[in-house]
Amino acid sequence: MFSDAVKGLPTEPKSVPKSVYLERQQRFLSQLKPSDLVIITTPSEAVRSNDVTYPYRTSSDMLYLVGWADPESALIFHHDGSQWISHLFVQPKDTLKEIWEGRRPGAEGAKLGWSIDEATSIHELEEHLDMFLSECSTVHVRTGISSVIDSIVLSSIERRDRNRQHFGSGPVSLEDPSRRIAEMRLRKSPEEIEFMRHAAEISSVAHELAMRASKDGIFEYQLQSIIEGFFVYGGTSGWAYPSIVGCGENATILHYTVNESKCKGDEIILIDAGAEYKGYAADITRSWPIGGTFTDAQKEIYEIVLDAQEQAIAACRVGNPYNQPHEVARSVLAEGLIRLGIINQSLEDALDTQTGQLKNWYMHNTGHWLGLDVHDVGVYKPDGTPRLLEAGMVLTVEPGLYFGAWRPDVDCPERYANIGIRIEDDVLVTDDEPDVLTKRCPKTIADIEGIVGSL
Ligand code: GLY
Ligand code: MN
Ligand code: MN
Repeated sequence: MFSDAVKGLPTEPKSVPKSVYLERQQRFLSQLKPSDLVIITTPSEAVRSNDVTYPYRTSSDMLYLVGWADPESALIFHHDGSQWISHLFVQPKDTLKEIWEGRRPGAEGAKLGWSIDEATSIHELEEHLDMFLSECSTVHVRTGISSVIDSIVLSSIERRDRNRQHFGSGPVSLEDPSRRIAEMRLRKSPEEIEFMRHAAEISSVAHELAMRASKDGIFEYQLQSIIEGFFVYGGTSGWAYPSIVGCGENATILHYTVNESKCKGDEIILIDAGAEYKGYAADITRSWPIGGTFTDAQKEIYEIVLDAQEQAIAACRVGNPYNQPHEVARSVLAEGLIRLGIINQSLEDALDTQTGQLKNWYMHNTGHWLGLDVHDVGVYKPDGTPRLLEAGMVLTVEPGLYFGAWRPDVDCPERYANIGIRIEDDVLVTDDEPDVLTKRCPKTIADIEGIVGSL
């Protein structure tokens, strides 16, 4: 089943050339002063149980600036008076550890294979950091990620306070570098877009396979296994976020991840699942009837959400405020629910964020930035006003309607009880039409009805 599905997908994209990382580093460092010091931290490995750790995922800023993915590492940029020096601290070579856990590039391998000037064992970080800190004035470090680095930096600042009169140097302020890096990450380069397209295409086919496998009596986790199995088969590192696979009333729970119920043929299944490729996330949601045919009530809701989604995608154009797709989707959803008699307010009243009835059935935003993080970085309202879309930005478009009959806070219309529909695509803003990276994933009623259960 997987070998047929993978046919026709683009061949695996190449790795990122070193020059791309160097250009990013230079662009970032050009914003700083020679007296600045930058520390890019990574999270520690997390214990799952006893001696088993969770699969490691390093910080997205580390991936963005050097592409280094191993645990126990830190990246430092310091200025030597004439130029910036990048210095990566890594796990040292250790034959016994490598026999058990896998090969390590070590410092020498890191220097040869990655775009950095210097590499040293992580065990020497403290000593180097003490020296770099004593010579800098502002430390650019994101605190709260590495307690070890936090305490070294803070104690250095403390020492400076005591010894300032003697030495006259040392850090005087802290700044979070992720703010500047986020601004860069918001606009994707051609290499990043290639990776995102690959993650999107593998994820699209995974959803299509789950549609084909759907049938009365299948369990949510069985559909999850097809989706996630294909993520891995397709050469990605697996899911970018825990898969949401909810049938019937579970489809009305926005981030349902229990995934253990048995599906009935007349229920809608909502699957929100995306793969991660080279660190880049895809984020797709599709909703379909398990038995392959929409009931009239399901069709009524589906058509409204699809219309909202298509109109919102059309609003993903250069120069539009980032929230225009959301406002477009809200209007289409509200108009549709007024037409069906589910909302008994005027359009203007229905859209009121405090008193409007739309929020009873549509309670989330229509999208978010997408990239190395599924909810990617980037300020939505710099200076308090909505950011305007630019070519190279990638965002999701994901309107939905959710009629949880189980909810005590609303009076759910019986005809639509436990229908949950979300349709989510990943959209690249271009100088031309919006480029839907996930367009391969079926979403019209005709396409879905033609596919579901066809395995
Ligand atoms: N998958 C989470 C979201 O759509 O935001
Ligand atoms: Mn999303
Ligand atoms: Mn999603």
